Amino acid sequence: MLKERTVRTILVTGGAGFIGSNFIRYLYRARRGARIVVLDKLTYAGNVENLREFIGRRDFTFVKGDIARASILDEILPGTDTIFNFAAETHVDRSILEAGTFVKTDVLGTYALLQGALRHQVRRFVQVSTDEVYGSVRRGSSREVDPVEPNSPYSASKTSGDLLARAFHRTYGLPVVVTRSSNNYGPYQHPEKFIPLFITNAIEGKPLPLYGDGRNVRDWLYVEDNCRAIELVGRTGRVGEIYNIGAGEERANVDIARSIVSLVGADERLLTFVSDRPGHDRRYSLDSRKIRALGWRPSVAFEEGLERTVRWYERNASWWRPIKEGRFKRYYSKLYASRIESARSRKGRG
Ligand code: NAD
Ligand code: DAU
Repeated sequence: MLKERTVRTILVTGGAGFIGSNFIRYLYRARRGARIVVLDKLTYAGNVENLREFIGRRDFTFVKGDIARASILDEILPGTDTIFNFAAETHVDRSILEAGTFVKTDVLGTYALLQGALRHQVRRFVQVSTDEVYGSVRRGSSREVDPVEPNSPYSASKTSGDLLARAFHRTYGLPVVVTRSSNNYGPYQHPEKFIPLFITNAIEGKPLPLYGDGRNVRDWLYVEDNCRAIELVGRTGRVGEIYNIGAGEERANVDIARSIVSLVGADERLLTFVSDRPGHDRRYSLDSRKIRALGWRPSVAFEEGLERTVRWYERNASWWRPIKEGRFKRYYSKLYASRIESARSRKGRG
């Protein structure tokens, strides 16, 4: 007699967002037989369009809801094998304008989810954290044992979630693993973030607002490489451990902006140096030897990934145009209008 195969249930919170939706696409390719449940509040950043190809599949369930609500968790969690917690408020600039929702989701939401995982004896809890927990890195690269020094309300909230996950492992024995990845880029990233904002503005012939001197450095990672790493950590990472995930592709913002202008075929004069982000971290850089020891390697070089990303946004204007046309306009004007105006008048005087 054929042995019945046990179908594992995986909960992906924040699955309607950028990395979460790419992760689901990757999971269906990598782990046949998994049943995926998505729990997503559908904030401004969540978009069911990102999951369109999975809606209606028998092994896929979408639940609209908040990770902070214990009653929803008690409905969903029985029988769940693994939780990948992507759900978060994620944009640093928004956290500077209004920090409360970041504390609610990234701290209290993570806490509620950890409690739920404990109540329902989940086999593994993957907390998706960030390299921003280390703060600005003057020289060298951050290792998992380095102290945390978050500088924005976003990174402070993410650090709190990350540390709560650690505490739930140490105190209650919850099987937690934490990933701290660097800046992701690729398809389906909300146009509020640097790379998609600059690509879409360049396509539209709008100014490309570079903060400060444009020389802040980020360590860029193609989203599919991150998805592969997170899945690997979920399956083979050691419980209680933290794994940095970075490709070592450090670039200054202004250099990326110039590459985007050239890939899109836009005018270099769109580059506009505007007043800096408060508390702007100068550089992030990750030492990723620990995850490399699990067998992971990044597969997409930055120049290749950037070109793929530019072409994706060029082909998928019907995905991003409605986002930029909607309530995003009010946010954009609040954050950028006066900065761009001052930059223009400075230029006019100079
Ligand atoms: P995103 O903003 O694109 O998506 C976040 C998703 O979470 C959205 O679908 C949103 O609706 C959902 N969400 C927000 N609050 C929720 C709540 N209370 N309950 C349920 N769902 C909620 O974010 P992203 O860029 O895909 O990031 C995913 C995760 O990866 C986050 O935890 C983020 O901190 C982390 N991370 C992101 C990057 C990056 O470069 N994008 C790098 C390192 C770590
Ligand atoms: O490092 C990982 C983090 O990367 C994630 O944890 C966050 O969720 C994600 O948003 C991202 O944070 P950053 O602040 O690094 O990303 P952002 O895309 O906002 O900005 C990247 C760089 O570009 C940063 O130095 C600020 C700069 N920037 C950004 C915007 C939106 C500009 O110069 N102009 C802009 O308009």
